[in-house]
Amino acid sequence: MKKHAITIAGGGSTFTPGIVLMLLEHLDTFPIHTIKFYDNDKERQETVAEACRILLKERAPEMTFVSTVDPEEAFSDIDFVMAHIRVGKYKMREQDEKIPLRHGVLGQETCGPGGMAYGMRSIGPVLELVDYMERYSPNAWMLNYSNPAAIVAEATRRLRPHSKVLNICDMPIGIEELMASILGLASRKEMVVKYYGLNHFGWWYDIRDKEGNDLLPTLRAHVAEHGYVTADKSKQHADDSWNDTFAKAKDVQHIDPETLPNTYLKYYFFPDDVVAHSNPDHTRANEVMEGREKFVFGECQSIIDKGTAADTALHIDEHASYIVDLAKAIAYNTKERMLLIVENNGAIPNMDPEAMVEIPCLVGSTGPEPLTVGHIPQFQKGLMEQQVSVEKLVVEAWVEGSYQKLWQALTLSRTVPSVTIAKALLDDLIEANKEFWPTLS
Ligand code: NAD
Ligand code: G6P
Ligand code: MN
Repeated sequence: MKKHAITIAGGGSTFTPGIVLMLLEHLDTFPIHTIKFYDNDKERQETVAEACRILLKERAPEMTFVSTVDPEEAFSDIDFVMAHIRVGKYKMREQDEKIPLRHGVLGQETCGPGGMAYGMRSIGPVLELVDYMERYSPNAWMLNYSNPAAIVAEATRRLRPHSKVLNICDMPIGIEELMASILGLASRKEMVVKYYGLNHFGWWYDIRDKEGNDLLPTLRAHVAEHGYVTADKSKQHADDSWNDTFAKAKDVQHIDPETLPNTYLKYYFFPDDVVAHSNPDHTRANEVMEGREKFVFGECQSIIDKGTAADTALHIDEHASYIVDLAKAIAYNTKERMLLIVENNGAIPNMDPEAMVEIPCLVGSTGPEPLTVGHIPQFQKGLMEQQVSVEKLVVEAWVEGSYQKLWQALTLSRTVPSVTIAKALLDDLIEANKEFWPTLS
């Protein structure tokens, strides 16, 4: 089996140690000879890198490890880029969440105005990573899960149409793990799912076991009572606020008796509820800074201080093994069936062929082969067309430097009640994002 070289872009991410441990766990089926970290924040990355250097020396001494802020060093001689950057870091996530709340609009990392603001920050730097990869390793593939994935995917579709970039999200996988637990199955891989939508905006419409038995009715009965809450708690999505989101699926699913919803739909269906339950002075960004970030950086520092990772509490992100599944699908042409964010191109015939949709694909060495979904119901079509237009307008606003188009994007979002509020919000977001956005006129 060919051994691979991987660059993790966003080396200073809170998810990096979990990904490294996950890669180590899968070396027998996906061998790696080199792991490189790349970030544009040297100091932040160095803490994670120093800890991972110690850990790798102990657990995989033959591995070459590089940590760098130099693009040429980071992107040369590699096979895959796993990209998880957060442009503006948690400080700007906090702004994305708090500015809309000041206008009575929900504040969320990827949905509504916060997601659009984050999108306007992410497009340029993600394209920059794509360009580095193509310059220094033209045969490599980028597996991108930097958010907001919907807007980033539309930007790569439009601006780098021939690049080898795959955009993917872990939320359907996370929810499918909960579904497996609800059903008493050992793994989500015992289910074959049909799903369509946009990123953070979709529905399962058929879920079966390997024998073809329909599992949807049992799941719907559970979700009608408990949402996706089940005894086996998700490891990644374990905080109380996530539990509330999983519980809320109970209300989200009532509007459509044929499907099961992605949890993110709560932000579009119950924006008033979400605002009412938000603390404008303490949002998810604060929870993450006080929780995951503190834990990961604390553990890394402790590895550095002790000089060993033997007793570290850093844990493997087993759920993130979908990233290895995706890399393997490309590397070994496995044709694994996976949900990816791809150009519609007729898979949903009654939707814009140029929309980026999240649908099942067979993945092989030439990339994803999207499977046909067929016509979708008017309810979902209406919602998706509106949201796709929001995402396209954000990318157009970024490309053209257009104030008007971003104002239109904000106005079109189901989360924003009026043109007036959209404008006031936009003016505040421009001020907060001066350092990151193109100038809008
Ligand atoms: P984080 O802030 O801890 O890490 C992000 C890192 O990216 C930081 O070290 C930062 O310095 C770096 N960075 C920012 N701009 C950069 C640039 N231009 N070039 C290189 N590096 C840059 O964030 P996190 O909470 O660990 O999340 C990382 C990303 O992964 C976010 O975008 C998050 O939304 C995303 N994510 C996506 C999924 C998914 O389902 N698609 C799941 C989990 C996390
Ligand atoms: C899910 C989504 C990601 C998102 C993350 C936020 O995993 O699929 O796209 O980034 O949740 O989680 P957090 O713990 O940072 O709020
Ligand atoms: Mn996601």
